[in-house]
Amino acid sequence: MLPDVPEFPNIRPKTTTICVIWALGDAASEDLLRVVEKILDKPAIERSNRLFWKKDRVRFLCSHLLRRALLSRLTGVPMDEILFTTNRYGKPYLTLGGHEHSAGTWNFNVSSSADWVAFLATNNGQCGIDIERLPDTDPMPDLKEMSKANVFSGREKEYLMSGPGSFRLRFYQIWTLKEAYLKYTGRGLAGIEQIDMVDLFNLQQPMNEGQWASEKGDATAFHRFEEDYALSVVLKRDQAMPEVHVLHDEQVFELVKGTFPRKRKSDRYA
Ligand SMILES: CC(C)(COP(=O)(O)OP(=O)(O)OC[C@H]1O[C@@H](n2cnc3c(N)ncnc32)[C@H](O)[C@@H]1OP(=O)(O)O)[C@@H](O)C(=O)NCCC(=O)NCCS
Repeated sequence: MLPDVPEFPNIRPKTTTICVIWALGDAASEDLLRVVEKILDKPAIERSNRLFWKKDRVRFLCSHLLRRALLSRLTGVPMDEILFTTNRYGKPYLTLGGHEHSAGTWNFNVSSSADWVAFLATNNGQCGIDIERLPDTDPMPDLKEMSKANVFSGREKEYLMSGPGSFRLRFYQIWTLKEAYLKYTGRGLAGIEQIDMVDLFNLQQPMNEGQWASEKGDATAFHRFEEDYALSVVLKRDQAMPEVHVLHDEQVFELVKGTFPRKRKSDRYA
């Protein structure tokens, strides 16, 4: 029997951009996973089975469940009929597969870290998202050492060493922004050497109360801290940062129930 759940945030197809985070709780590893394995496609299940740690498997499966449920809600295509393809760098896209009218207009991107799974979708161009849990009680990674890696340009390294705010927050700002931008472009790490975020998004501009936005070229970038996580979103130019909905297991349960495959409704949540 499911507990009573609060109303799911009002996500309507007319919304152009949505951002949903699933803060995974205990139910994610129990009831939901029974369902997930029946709904997901075989390649996703096979990928999950290659993950050694259970927490990584759970997060992976939940990320795939969340994207199906939300894309189903946005497009009207039943959850188990949603088809994906990837570009040559691995960025996933919805494919048309019989649902040309709705699936073709939506782009999405996902990211996960620790107990959070983040989903971003828009019907207005490309999008990219990245979240990273800020280390607190866990041992801090050697951030200064990591900042020397080839992933940062010379100016980005300068910014990391001497930009506004603390080194820790600068590091997670630039890291997640760069990831979100690379995911927006769809090239992933393949484009990393050519990208200079300091130049691209004027990173010297200080963050305002934990939020930051800048646009240049074809994109708008947003960065904020949400609870213990650094979150960055990149959208097409001239867009606003979407409201961030943080859902818990029970709400995702409700969402999944509402987007159930039509033909096999009966036994899923018995
Ligand atoms: C794969 C990559 C796109 C993101 O990896 P990540 O940060 O480890 O993982 P995230 O949880 O944020 O994102 C993973 C999701 O990105 C999506 N993705 C994969 N390739 C992508 C691409 N080329 N473009 C956009 N999205 C992509 C996928 O949906 C993937 O989830 P899935 O495999 O379950 O479908 C890539 O940037 C990477 O390998 N990064 C490693 C970290 C690093 O060195 N970063 C440098 C930062 S400056």
